[in-house]
Amino acid sequence: MNQITINGAPYGVADDDLELSLLEYLRERRFLTGTKNGCERGLCGSCTVIVDGKALRSCRTPVEKAIGKSVVTIEGMEGPGGEPHPIQKAFMDAGAIQCGFCTPGMVMSAYALLLRDPDPSRDEIRKALKGNLCRCTGYQQIVDAVSLAAKVMREQALPVEAGCLRKR
Ligand code: FES
Ligand code: FES
Repeated sequence: MNQITINGAPYGVADDDLELSLLEYLRERRFLTGTKNGCERGLCGSCTVIVDGKALRSCRTPVEKAIGKSVVTIEGMEGPGGEPHPIQKAFMDAGAIQCGFCTPGMVMSAYALLLRDPDPSRDEIRKALKGNLCRCTGYQQIVDAVSLAAKVMREQALPVEAGCLRKR
């Protein structure tokens, strides 16, 4: 059986589902609807998830490419006690959420950045998020949020790793 690890737990992928995109598989087979479908054409970034530590657009990733890999979605970010990940908390604290549609993709792109660089400059944050579109905020508060999250995690020595990967 083909298997994918999602938010730390193994799931099978039926042969009939190998034609699906990773986005379709997550939303329609696993009911993980936190990952949003904004354009289904690789243009908006709202479907961003983490596959083996890298941010990918799940609408343009065949589920077959995720077989044997570890996928983290927005549902896997919260901590062991259900508390929001520091990135999620910083988005709330910095006023970086308006309608919220872009937020899961933004958080996942920010997570991929902070996994590889705990102290990015504002330019590096903008660069890491350039594929994620937001029609509401004007981006300033989103850059503020990622910068705040990085600062809080550094100063409080909090793990960047998603909560689902720390529960095991
Ligand atoms: S839904 Fe995947 S990039 Fe827009
Ligand atoms: S908060 Fe509405 S699209 Fe970003």
